[in-house]
Amino acid sequence: MDPCGKGVFLTGGARGIGRGLMEALLSKGAKVMFCDVRVETGKATEAELQQKFGADNVFFRECDVTDSGFGAVDICVNNAGILDESNWEKTIEVNLTAQIRGSQLALDHMRRDRGGRGGLIINTVSGIVALSVHFCPVYMATKHGMIGFMTSWAKNPKMKDMGVRWRCFCPALTDTDLLKEANDADSGKVEDFNAYQALCSVEGAVMSVDETAQEFLKLFQDQDSDDAIFLVRHNGASGYVRRQLVDSDGVSNIVTVD
Ligand SMILES: NC(=O)c1ccc[n+]([C@@H]2O[C@H](COP(=O)([O-])OP(=O)(O)OC[C@H]3O[C@@H](n4cnc5c(N)ncnc54)[C@H](O)[C@@H]3O)[C@@H](O)[C@H]2O)c1
Repeated sequence: MDPCGKGVFLTGGARGIGRGLMEALLSKGAKVMFCDVRVETGKATEAELQQKFGADNVFFRECDVTDSGFGAVDICVNNAGILDESNWEKTIEVNLTAQIRGSQLALDHMRRDRGGRGGLIINTVSGIVALSVHFCPVYMATKHGMIGFMTSWAKNPKMKDMGVRWRCFCPALTDTDLLKEANDADSGKVEDFNAYQALCSVEGAVMSVDETAQEFLKLFQDQDSDDAIFLVRHNGASGYVRRQLVDSDGVSNIVTVD
C-alpha cells in the first residue's frame, strides 16, 4: 500500500518512535490523526509537524488507549506502549489490551465484507520478541501476546475478503524516553537494572528514531507477509522473519494449522 493520500490513525505519537513514524508517513503524503496521554507534548508535536507538513495534514487528540475507543481510516498504527515492570497490570493494559482493542476496532471499521474499504493494521511490537528477556518478563509477555494475536488473524482464510492486511512492526532498541526513563536504578521499571544497562550499552545496539522510522516505511512495500514479523535491523538489513518451534536437539518440529 502506498501511504500517499491515505488517512492514518496512530497511538502514542507525542514523542519517541510514534513521532518518528508520523514524520515518515507525512513525508510520503499521508494525513495523520494521532493520540496520546501527554497533552502538552502532543500539542507541541502537532504544532511542529503542522508547520513542517501543513496544518491540514496532522491532528492531535488527547486519548488514553486503555479507556477510549477509536475508529481508523486506511491505516491504523497501534504504537503506544510502556516499559514498567513495577506496574505490570498497566503494562498489560497499554501494550496488550489496548493494542488488541485498537486492532479489533480498526478491523471492524475497515473490513470490506461489512461495508468498509479495506486497510492496513500495524502494531508496534519489539525486536526482542525472538527472545526471552529476564529483566522485563511482563513487557515480553505483552509483546509475545501481540505477535500471537496478529499472526493468528493474518492466517484467517476470510482475511482476503475482508481486505485488511496486518503488519507486526518490531523495532530494535531505539533511543527514546522509554529507554531513558528505565535507565534509573530506583525506577523499578526493569527487574535487573545491571542486565538492562549492559544490553543498552552494547556498541551499536541502539538505533536512532530516524533510522527506525525509515525502516518502518518498508512495511508499505506490498509483500504477502502478513503472518510474518517485520524485524528492524541496522544498516537497512530489516526484513520479515517467522518463528518456529525447535526440539531441544535442534530439530524443527512445527505443527501448523491452516
Ligand atoms: N524504544 C525502544 O527501544 C523500543 C524497541 C522496541 C519496541 N518499542 C515499542 O515502541 C513503542 C513506542 O515506544 P517509544 O520507545 O517511542 O516510547 P516513548 O515513551 O518515547 O513513546 C510512547 C508514547 O506512547 C504514549 N502512551 C503511553 N501510554 C499511553 C496511553 N495509555 N494512551 C495513549 N498514549 C500513551 C506516551 O505518552 C508516549 O508519547 C512502544 O510500543 C514500545 O514498546 C520500543
